[in-house]
Amino acid sequence: MTNDQGQNFTPAPELPIELERETYLLFREFFDKAEKKRRWNINEDIPWDQCNRNLNPVIADVIETFTAVELYLPDYTSKILPLVRKSKGRAWFYANWGYEESKHSLALGDWLVKSGHRSEEYMADLERKVFAREWNLPQDNQLGMIAYAMVQEQATFLNYKKLQNRIEGMERDPALETLLSYVSVDEKSHFGFFRDCLRIYMKHDRDAVILQLRRVMNEFAMPVVHDLLDDSTRRIAEIQSLELFDSHIYFREVYLPVIRDLGITRQEMRTTIREKKSLKYP
Ligand SMILES: [Fe+2]
Ligand SMILES: [Fe+2]
Repeated sequence: MTNDQGQNFTPAPELPIELERETYLLFREFFDKAEKKRRWNINEDIPWDQCNRNLNPVIADVIETFTAVELYLPDYTSKILPLVRKSKGRAWFYANWGYEESKHSLALGDWLVKSGHRSEEYMADLERKVFAREWNLPQDNQLGMIAYAMVQEQATFLNYKKLQNRIEGMERDPALETLLSYVSVDEKSHFGFFRDCLRIYMKHDRDAVILQLRRVMNEFAMPVVHDLLDDSTRRIAEIQSLELFDSHIYFREVYLPVIRDLGITRQEMRTTIREKKSLKYP
């Protein structure tokens, strides 16, 4: 099948009205809980006077990489919303999600500057480099994008959480540790919403969900920002040395828990030879 621009894409099933309603209720529950328990204020809730200027510079390099990923927000939001505009639950979710993600990039950028690890000029240059590139949807249909986002959020949660744990074993930085704990709680909540969305889709078309999960999860890669950073080889090596995320962590802490949560077997997740030939991976 082709879209308006003549590109091939895999159609995803539309939810019947009663399940669409469930998606909306899921969003309302997510939103109400966020308003009551999860909101945080960049200026008031982070002890900015306790930034550690002497923290190991590798941490600032990693934070810069994370900030760059969060800076793609205009692409993340503008490209997904048109695909879900008929779904109130998901469209409103993405609006709220965009607000939370915008806070992440602001707070991470603030830490880089307030801690003295980066200058305002450096950050402006980083933003220019990020905005010069465009991020495109890694999946060609909205159901595939739920699967992708679910995996991405859990992977991001693990990155932030593990980084927080690494800093706790170093010289400490109460500002960054507090920031990372707020951000990781947000990422975990995002993961939960996408996972529960898939549960709703599975009531309607379990096979379609498994097909999309196979496409996403058997080929998963974090958004690539390495080629954007001048000294990419060094930074990749630094990130790897902190052991925040690798294929083993992915398998153990993302892949297996996700399929278990969704009640899918590893047998069902096997990509068939036919799929390997016919599916166009991003
Ligand atoms: Fe985020
Ligand atoms: Fe997130």
